[in-house]
Amino acid sequence: PRIICVAGARPNFMKVKPVMDALEARGAEVVLVHTGQHYDAAMNDVFFTDLGLRKPDRHLGTGSGSHAEQTARVMLAFEPLVDELEPDAVVVVGDVTSTLACALVAAKAGITVAHVEAGLRSRDWSMPEEVNRLATDRLSDLLFAPSPDGVDNLRAEGYHEDQIHLAGNVMIDTLHANLDRALGSDALHRHGLTPGGYALATLHRPANVDSPEILGALLGAFGEVAKELPVILPVHPRTAARLETAGLPEGIRLIPPAGYLDFIALQASARMVLTDSGGIQEETTALGVPCLTTRDSTERPITLTEGTNILVGRDPELIVATARRVLADPPAKRAPALWDGHAGDRIADVLLAHLAAPVRLRPT
Ligand code: UD1
Repeated sequence: PRIICVAGARPNFMKVKPVMDALEARGAEVVLVHTGQHYDAAMNDVFFTDLGLRKPDRHLGTGSGSHAEQTARVMLAFEPLVDELEPDAVVVVGDVTSTLACALVAAKAGITVAHVEAGLRSRDWSMPEEVNRLATDRLSDLLFAPSPDGVDNLRAEGYHEDQIHLAGNVMIDTLHANLDRALGSDALHRHGLTPGGYALATLHRPANVDSPEILGALLGAFGEVAKELPVILPVHPRTAARLETAGLPEGIRLIPPAGYLDFIALQASARMVLTDSGGIQEETTALGVPCLTTRDSTERPITLTEGTNILVGRDPELIVATARRVLADPPAKRAPALWDGHAGDRIADVLLAHLAAPVRLRPT
């Protein structure tokens, strides 16, 4: 069968790779389509090199824009490609705008849609990713959940049992596959850091960086943490534009966005991570590194119940108090079931079995 795998933004690249590899190992023809949602070299090219991901077979070159513009441009470019390639299935991963746009085109073209990382719910409709997750799942035939909470959410929403598959976490497949190489990276040395001698921070969510007051409060809290431990902050382009006006407390060091291997190395040796990312909550859990998530909700609750993640919201006092507590008494490490490096294999087996003997899966 011919299967299109879609990637568009930074957090997609490490999710699509294990699925592509597993499909190709089983003889499927995979066409890698890059929508172009992320286009800076630091947000993209370095990931292809680090992950050994081949050059995209097709590049839609759609670029940034408002949500509607981005969605519309991806759809306009993806539809003729689907008509031309006539794939047997389209695989979309994660929750970015490209994920939803391509799922919508494929569903309307009557093509089997598989969503990898299905069933995650923050229940916060103000997050664009939550809208993308809900709509993408509804458009998909096969739903591959990374954790049992995802399965529970899908069941509660009335999906067919045949659609729902607990596959495990593809992002952790990629982490396992690259950890040794990442630990060999000279990222710590280059940034003058020692293992356990710093905290690693990331911030890019609109809810955290678009308001100068909220961004200022978060940076103030990170500045307090930095009195005990230097805070290293690789800067996403969205945040970089805002930081120019926000000002930076002492002890916070900005570095450019890191590549995949460097960023895993920085996480693995950090004493603590402060983040608003989704994937980093999972990687810190897999690595056993304490993580403070500066959000009010998480679509990845298993990282709270089984992993090293703690939700701290945006209250500077709570962030600083929790950071002090975690530095004194780090949470214990436990890796969730099926975060075992084989999620891509399980997904490929189910998808190819379905394509060999298709049954109608979408709820009517
Ligand atoms: C997107 C995803 C988010 C993910 C994040 C990871 C959506 C809704 N959001 O957010 O879930 O966590 O990627 O990085 O899809 N920009 C550049 N260069 C780039 C890409 C973006 O300068 O290569 C700038 C542009 O000014 C753009 C802004 O960043 O307008 C935001 O980019 P966009 O793709 O809209 O969303 P992200 O915030 O990156």
